[in-house]
Amino acid sequence: MIITHAEIDGFKNLKGISFDPDPKYNIITGRNAQGKTNLLEAMWIMSGCKSFRGSKEKDYISLDGNKMSAEIKLLDSVREHKIKFEMTGNRNVPKTIHLNGVRQKGTKSLFDTFKCIAFTPEDTEIIRGAPEKRRNFTDMAAAQLEPVFVSHINRNNAIMNQRNCLLKKIMQGQAKPDILSAWDRQAAKEGAVISYMRNSYVKKINKICGKLYRMISGGNEDMELEYRSNVFAKDDFSAPCGESAYERYYRKLCESAEYDIRTGSTHSGVNRDEILIKINGVSAKDYASQGQIKSAALVMKLAQAEIFMQRSKDAPVVFLDDVMGELDGNRQRFIFDIIKNMQVFLTTPNESALLPEIKGRIIHISEGRITDA
Ligand SMILES: Nc1ncnc2c1ncn2[C@@H]1O[C@H](COP(=O)(O)OP(=O)(O)O)[C@@H](O)[C@H]1O
Ligand SMILES: [Mg+2]
Repeated sequence: MIITHAEIDGFKNLKGISFDPDPKYNIITGRNAQGKTNLLEAMWIMSGCKSFRGSKEKDYISLDGNKMSAEIKLLDSVREHKIKFEMTGNRNVPKTIHLNGVRQKGTKSLFDTFKCIAFTPEDTEIIRGAPEKRRNFTDMAAAQLEPVFVSHINRNNAIMNQRNCLLKKIMQGQAKPDILSAWDRQAAKEGAVISYMRNSYVKKINKICGKLYRMISGGNEDMELEYRSNVFAKDDFSAPCGESAYERYYRKLCESAEYDIRTGSTHSGVNRDEILIKINGVSAKDYASQGQIKSAALVMKLAQAEIFMQRSKDAPVVFLDDVMGELDGNRQRFIFDIIKNMQVFLTTPNESALLPEIKGRIIHISEGRITDA
């Protein structure tokens, strides 16, 4: 899919942006702090995902204004879509989202419509950050393939919030322990499905990461991913997810209930899973060098793109924030070879550091405006 038109106003420092992107390469340049990343971010949020740099929604609004609007036209293999996202600085007024002129209740329909992948300097957190970063990456990438996964994640999070509240009440003697089991039965169904989905995605991405990492390291190094469920053993996943998986998950929650009550939080289940990433047989989080961490993070995102392409005829749109400048020609070529069928938006303060064959539309940003439209 490609973005054919974008209009943004009042998003952070962006003002009066209106442009028709190139179907291939869009190179966003300008000095520091002019709004290059803001421009990527404004397009990215149209996918219904949270900001890739962790901005809060209230920070989307320009400091010297009171509302923002962003609109894109998107062309996929079936039709053109129009997505419009508007917000005001007034917290009591909800944001409004329109898809093809129809007001939407939430962002789910955007997630189903606009598929994109962002590469940012913060991606290294997937490798070296807390387990939550790896779980989030896996869940988002799996949800891109199977949108129903989002509902399981949301329901599980809601049940876990309730369960954790209940644990605190039980600890304070305001509720009886036996009411936990009704929640745990529900949690078990969602948790088992999530575990199986994670296992299946990690198996897929493991294969591709292995291949890509060998290529990016000149054939010398290995990368491996392994899903570590804290409920299921590896062999359990050979049977399909069903009653016996729910039962196993439920029993695990029961086993840790006493400890959970004492501590007021849930210590088993999918919210404690780890996805172990190994380079040359040892944990990348603990032992990898800076360079290995950067390569591994890049490979994870490229593998995500490759898996997506195997499943869908509509390639995702790719956003590259400040990642090309520091890569040598060979690595840049490697990346562009994998994303060659995708529309790309990349930011760089220095377009001369890009490979000469990356030619496309150059968009200069200065003080939040496009200066060469
Ligand atoms: N809510 C906001 N309102 C107005 N300006 C903002 C807001 N949030 C960030 N900015 C401005 O955006 C600029 C940074 O934009 P960014 O896209 O990160 O720059 P870069 O071009 O380096 O990628 C800074 O000048 C910052 O002050
Ligand atoms: Mg930037």
